[in-house]
Amino acid sequence: MELQDDEIAALGTKGFFIRDAFLGPERARAVHVEARQRAEAGSLKPAGIRRGANRTEDTAVRGDFIDWVTPAPGTALGSLWDAFVELGDALSASAYLGLGRFDLQLAHYPGGGARYVRHRDAFPGQSNRRVTAIYYANPDWRPEHGGQLRLFLDDGTLEVAPTLDRVVIFLSERLEHEVLPAYAPRLALTAWYYGRDAA
Ligand code: OGA
Ligand code: MN
Repeated sequence: MELQDDEIAALGTKGFFIRDAFLGPERARAVHVEARQRAEAGSLKPAGIRRGANRTEDTAVRGDFIDWVTPAPGTALGSLWDAFVELGDALSASAYLGLGRFDLQLAHYPGGGARYVRHRDAFPGQSNRRVTAIYYANPDWRPEHGGQLRLFLDDGTLEVAPTLDRVVIFLSERLEHEVLPAYAPRLALTAWYYGRDAA
C-alpha cells in the first residue's frame, strides 16, 4: 500500500487524514455483510458496561456494542485485517511512526441516539496506542442517520460521514473525537496500532 505525500503531510500537520475506496466496492460490501452478520448474531457486548456498575450512565457515554476481530483467512474481515497490516507497514515506512501490532475492534451502534462522547484514544505516558484507523461499513448512510465522527482540530471541528469503504487515520494521543448520536445502525472497525516497543 502506497501513502500519498499529502496524506503523510496531513498526519503531521493536522494529525489525521481520510482515505476513501480503501478496499474497493466488492470487498467493502463483503465486509459490511460479515460485520452486520456478527452484529445480528448477538455476540457483541455493550462497550459502556465495562466502565462501572451504572449501565444507564455508561450508555449515555458510549452506546455501542463491540467485539474483537482476529485474523480469519478467506473472509472479508480477514482481507480488511490484511489491509490494516499493509497500512501499518506503510505508515511505519513513510511517516516514521515505528508501528508494531494492532488490535481490531468491531463496533455496532444500534441507532436510537447511541453515541460516544468526546474522548481521546490514548494519553501520553499511559498507553502505547499511537495510531487509530477507523474503517466504516455503512453502505446506505444518509445525513439523517447521524453517527458522524467529529474531530476536534486546532482550527475547529470537522464532521466525517461514516460511509462505506472510508477509513479515517489519526494520531491516537493527539486528536480528541466523538461519535455523534446515531439514528440508524452504524458499523465501524477500528484498528489501534501500538508502538514497536509495546508489550
Ligand atoms: C472509538 C471511537 C469512532 C468511530 O471506538 O474509540 O472513537 O467513528 N470510534 O467509530
Ligand atoms: Mn475513540
